[in-house]
Amino acid sequence: MIDGNTESRVIEDVRTAARALPPGSRLPSVRELMARHRASPVTVQRALSRLAGEGLVVPRPGRGTFVAEKRATTEKAPDLGWQEVALADRPPLQAAPLDALLALPPDGAIPLTGGYLHPDLQPVAALGAALGRAARRPEPWGRLAVEGLQPLREWFAREAGGHVRGHDVVICSGGQPALATAFRALAAPGEPVLVESPTYLGAISALRSAGLRAVPVPTDADGVRPDLLAAAFALTGARVFYCQPLHANPTGATLAPHRRAAVLDAVRAAGAFLIEDDWARDLRIDGEAPPPLASDDPDGHVVYLRSLTKSAAPGLRIAAVSARGAAGARIKAARIIDDFFVSGPLQHATLELISAPAWRRHLKRLRAELRVRRDALTAALGEHLPDWQLQVVPAGGFHVWLRLPDDADDIALTARAAAAGVLVSPGRPWFAAEPPGPHVRLTFAGAPAPDLVEGVRRLAKVAAQ
Ligand SMILES: Cc1ncc(COP(=O)(O)O)c(C=O)c1O
Repeated sequence: MIDGNTESRVIEDVRTAARALPPGSRLPSVRELMARHRASPVTVQRALSRLAGEGLVVPRPGRGTFVAEKRATTEKAPDLGWQEVALADRPPLQAAPLDALLALPPDGAIPLTGGYLHPDLQPVAALGAALGRAARRPEPWGRLAVEGLQPLREWFAREAGGHVRGHDVVICSGGQPALATAFRALAAPGEPVLVESPTYLGAISALRSAGLRAVPVPTDADGVRPDLLAAAFALTGARVFYCQPLHANPTGATLAPHRRAAVLDAVRAAGAFLIEDDWARDLRIDGEAPPPLASDDPDGHVVYLRSLTKSAAPGLRIAAVSARGAAGARIKAARIIDDFFVSGPLQHATLELISAPAWRRHLKRLRAELRVRRDALTAALGEHLPDWQLQVVPAGGFHVWLRLPDDADDIALTARAAAAGVLVSPGRPWFAAEPPGPHVRLTFAGAPAPDLVEGVRRLAKVAAQ
């Protein structure tokens, strides 16, 4: 076993000595360091290798370890100015909101943001066992069919339901690449794509980086408004609509049963595709979730996306996009051009994971835990921030969406909250056009319940200032 603490102590000890001594000086021997820190030879060697990698010490086999020669500090700074000229007239990719969303929380901060499960909710033992089993066999390391592992494709097809079959599915390394591929395969640069307003900011970034225009369609507590969806199709001539019918990120809303047919009718009437991002299917808290829209799609209008990063762990970067007919062929072509195929060991491990009884047990426990955390967060909000209007109590997913008082500034509030040790996501980047008012998105999946409550207390203090 590697003792990280001892190793760190050895590193600090040698580093301090190396900084204090002139170049070329001999440093304490391995034997001395072992005695001084009660460390094993392996630990001491690892520490010295780290320092050698940093260029601070030089090991001379058989003679000892020495302080390295100082690097010249007068090294000329590189002149990268030419890059500005080379790149100047190409607009930079707008990844800033996604960057903020994916940033790792600093120590001590409470994350009421982020899009993944807290480590205590991830099925780490089952994942490790599945990956171990997969990695020990030879086939996963070889070539795979570019569309993905057949039984995994069939599993995703069964999850979509309706007319979707295994051969309609392409395995991708996460929902984000699946989305980017679908946009690029189904629409040409300059064309409009309809999106719910607000919507997942990563979808806005992906479609804009493909040269597409995001056209917002209003939503309410029952999901997208079908009347305005039909109007938007008519007005823009769009042929793609990106939609999250279940526990939408960020609003938490689910498309109401009485709207499902009207939404599909509007899509069919426009001769368009509906990209259904079903990221929260495994994250249902209250009762049974309605089936995917893809299960009610005889004629191939729905392109169905499903990711396992949300219900398993962010490192299990496995998702699938299902599409029929020429759309499916184009998506497959786009996927191959981008990255050939997804890592075999990861695909095999995923199949092991979802086929094991432990997966069902994990999902059951996950739903129960999400309920505890959602309820803790919403109760704390009611108690400490009664002026912030909870738009929907989500029946699943990770997030709640709050309307702030009219005079609040969501961006400034987010910055002040971060300084006070609580991380939230401001509302503005979730809108493709002007937001109708200030909002924030809070996540209940990324922290244990007591931390969520403490996070809301900190937020309330910030809001009161
Ligand atoms: C709605 C939605 N779709 C897709 C994704 C992409 O997730 P991943 O690439 O980890 O599967 C996210 C991540 O936050 C999301 O919230």
